[in-house]
Formats: sequence, C-alpha cells, structure tokens
Amino acid sequence: MTDALTRLPAWQALRDHQRACVNLNLRELFIQDPARFEKFSVHRGDILFDYSKNLVTEETLRLFADLARQRELPGWIERLFRGDRINGTEGRAALHTALRAQKRIMLDGRDLMQDVSAVLAQMRRFCEGVRAGRIRSAAGRVFTDVVSIGIGGSDLGPRLVCEALAPYATGRLRVHFVSNVDGAAVTALLRSLDAATTLVSIASKTFTTQETLANATTAKAWLQKRLRGKTAVAKHFCAVTAAPERAGAFGVPAERVFVIWDWVGGRYSLWSAMGLPVALAVGMKNFDALRAGARDMDEHFRSAPLERNVPAILGLLGVWYVNFFGSATHAVLPYDERLRLLPAYLQQLEMESCGKRVTRDGELADYATAPVVWGTAGTDGQHAYFQLLHQGTHLIPADFIACRKPHHRLRRHHEILFANFVAQTEALARGKTAEEAQVEMRAQGLPEAAVKRLLPHRAFPGNRPSTSILIEQLDPRALGALLALYEHKVFVESVIWNVNAFDQWGVELGKTLADRVLRELADTAPVSSHDASTAGLINYFKAKRKRRKP
Ligand code: F6P
Repeated sequence: MTDALTRLPAWQALRDHQRACVNLNLRELFIQDPARFEKFSVHRGDILFDYSKNLVTEETLRLFADLARQRELPGWIERLFRGDRINGTEGRAALHTALRAQKRIMLDGRDLMQDVSAVLAQMRRFCEGVRAGRIRSAAGRVFTDVVSIGIGGSDLGPRLVCEALAPYATGRLRVHFVSNVDGAAVTALLRSLDAATTLVSIASKTFTTQETLANATTAKAWLQKRLRGKTAVAKHFCAVTAAPERAGAFGVPAERVFVIWDWVGGRYSLWSAMGLPVALAVGMKNFDALRAGARDMDEHFRSAPLERNVPAILGLLGVWYVNFFGSATHAVLPYDERLRLLPAYLQQLEMESCGKRVTRDGELADYATAPVVWGTAGTDGQHAYFQLLHQGTHLIPADFIACRKPHHRLRRHHEILFANFVAQTEALARGKTAEEAQVEMRAQGLPEAAVKRLLPHRAFPGNRPSTSILIEQLDPRALGALLALYEHKVFVESVIWNVNAFDQWGVELGKTLADRVLRELADTAPVSSHDASTAGLINYFKAKRKRRKP
C-alpha cells in the first residue's frame, strides 16, 4: 500500500495544470498582468513576502488551497496548536508554539504555561544576574565569556540568533559556540579564553549526545585544571536539558539547570531555555521580543485564509517544485551577512523534519519528499555557484532574503547589496533572449562570426523561480517571525507529504554504529565484524596508531 496523496483530485488537477504551466514564462506573466506583484505578495508585520516570481498563476493558487483542504491542513494546524500527540512514533505533542504563547495550554491535565513561565523566570534571574555582574565566577570575578556546548537543534538556532542579533548585544558578555566533536574546535576556543571568567552552558535535550558530552567533559577538565577544584567548577556551569538528573550527575548545580520538555522537538527548541545563550547575549527583553515575533506568525498561520497564508503558500510552493517540477534541491540565499547561518538552520529544520520515505501510516511514499536545502549569504554565492542557478540543467527554486534597513551606516554598501538581491531574482526570472544577446554583442563590436558562435552561450531562457522575503530591519521581533514562518512552512509540507515532521529515526543508526566503533578502538586487535571497507578503515587507523606508540 502507498499513501493516497497522488490519487487526490486536487493532486491530479495540479498535475494537469502543471502540464499547462510548462509554457508559462515569467517575463511574459509580468507583461500580461501589471498587478502581478500586488496579487502575489503579502505584507505581514515587518515582512514583505513576494512570491510573484514563481511559476504560478491564480489557478495554481486555487489548486494549492484545494490540495491543502483535501489534505486537511486546517485540521492539522489545530492539532498542532492544541497539543495533540502528532509526533506519532514517539507518542508526543509538538508544542513549540506553547513556548511563545500567551494563552493557557493544557497537556495531560497540566497547564503548560505555568511550567514555561517558571523556566522563563529562572532564565530571567540568571541571565540578568550574569549580565549585571551579580552572578560571578568562583573567584568572584564578573563573567566575560560564555561557551555554549550543544549540537543540531541545541546549537544551530541559538547560534544563528546570536549572530543575527549582534547589534542588540549591549552587554560585555561574549558568547561562543562549540558543536563539532573535532577537538580542533574546542581546543581553539578554550585557548582563547580565561577560565576564571568563563561560563560554560551545556545544551542537550537528552544529555546523552556523544559530541556534546565529549566537549563538555573537555571543558570541565580545562576548568578543573585552571580553577583547581571541583567546587569551583560548579560555579562555571549551567545546563539546558530535558534530563536534569543527568546534568546533576555531570556536576551542574540544580539551580543552574534549565529544563525543557519532551513536547519540544530539538530543532524547534530555540524558544525554550535552549535560547539561554540568546538571552545572555542580548538580554531577556530581546528574547521576549523574538518570541513575540514568532507568536505573531503563529497567529497568522492559525487564522489567515489558505490563499493569503504565508507559511501555507511557502510550503505548497515547496511541494509544487519537488513533486511537479522534479526539483531535488532548494536554495536559501540570505542577502544579509548576519543571516549567514540561516541556510544551515533551515537545513536541519526541513531535512530532519521532512527527509522521510515512509508516511505517518507506515506506508512507503510513492512521491518525493524534502529537497536538499542549501545556500550561503549573498553576494558571495554569486561569484561561486550562481552560474548553475542561471544556466545549469537543474531547476532550483530559491528563497532570497534581505533587510530593507541595515544596522550599519554604510549606505552605499547596503544599496549595492540590495541592488544585487533584486537584480539576481530579476535575472533568474528574465534570462536573456537571443535578440538581447545579439544586440549586446554587436554593441560591444564583436564580428558577426563571433556573435553567431557565442549566441548559444550568451542567451538563456530564464524562467527560474524565486521567492523574495524583505524584512524591514533584522530586529528580534522580525527574526522571530521569520523563523516561525519557516517552522510552519515545514509543517505544511509534512502535512501534504503525510510524514511525521517531529521524529528523526534515521540519525540513530549512525550514532549506534559510532558507539560500537568507538568501543572497538579501545584496543589494538584488528576487527572483522564489519564489511571489508569499514573494517579496512578501522584496522588501518588502529595499526597506524599502534605504530606511533612508544
Ligand atoms: O542529530 C539528531 C539530534 O537528535 C537532533 O535532532 C538534535 O537536535 C541533536 O541530535 C542534539 O540532541 P540533544 O539536544 O539531545 O543533544
């Protein structure tokens, strides 16, 4: 049995419609309809969302809404917000929206708002204490640096937000992140810090993640060596986790452990105490504003009609290109240096959530699901891989994200950046006709033979879709709304594809095998219990290591 998605009337109507869309031409669509920008854009709060440069018509949008209804998206949205256990394989709710809600939300007869408020109050006391210098190091000194140790959802969100909101970091605290288990990362960082004024925050929902525990143990040994004493070390630690007893066993004092709950997924946890580095860097007021921006997007997602619902449109566009145009990748291109880490964050959000081949009902999906999400900050990418976006053989839809107003005063820089942001979307949509290419080459004085020879290389069809997201200014509120927009976009996709967006069983196998190999590395005996390649690599490593021993 396979999932019924492709048999839905709306899916089949979209398939027929797509055949008619093959001849759609963005350049012509804009000529035919001068109101296309107004029709295919939505302004919500401080974000202008322009999807007019996509291969869609009003009919496409109508069919998108039909598909969403036939897939019961409105009902799923209610289930999400209500706290139903929609993470079926783990029997959990996915209530990240409760972390930024203002209303009472009950789960198993418990008022979640009380738990959330209590942890927020604990964070507030702690962060304000550290920032004001009331909470001090073992030697009574003011903390100058924070090292946040975590990985995946316990790292990418807070890291992105700390970098994005750097202009709001008014205090003297410097916040650093370590995620990779490669010792090069933690060594380089610790070497640059003074243990006597460094606070270490261990962020791990499970408090069992190998990389995080290895980095935390190294940081602990570093603190013990420099501070000379176990009691001193406790004053330099705090933790964020759903397993407070494990954090306690590691040596983090109970009052410094900030809990999260099993109803918060790792990659959706930024709004919980996982945001501690953010609150330490920019203060609790700004962290509250970030949550308020997300709440604003939640309200929009829950109440806007599907035809004007920004996360729904973004999610359905994702489905449109993956399933009807065969796009296997999706580019995220922030034209903003401070959003440099957005592609990495969205990579986990979308690929860990929707990178599934089996539906909620345990059946094989007979359609493609999540694309490969990738990208880097503009304008750098223009001088690296944009050639392929313009003239390559793959259709790669792209999200372009920029801010209308920068935090710096280099007006000229910002205008160059903005000019490139819009010019690239225009170039992707328009391409260059043979006629335009000929006129250009002749104006450059090229002989006719060269014009003829170069024409196929210098003309290209364009018609490459993009979505532009223009933020008024990258402040906490707008950033919160942007990240919640993408959370909900991914949820929409998961509903259409009928996959559970909140589990990640695929990553478990690699973790188990790594544990097994690690145990095998403990001695010098060659291994044979793997395929020849794996055993060969392990044995090579062990043999070389053995030889180097005195
Ligand atoms: O890589 C899998 C994963 O479980 C992610 O989903 C999660 O964000 C990350 O590991 C870190 O997990 P933890 O917070 O439990 O250390």
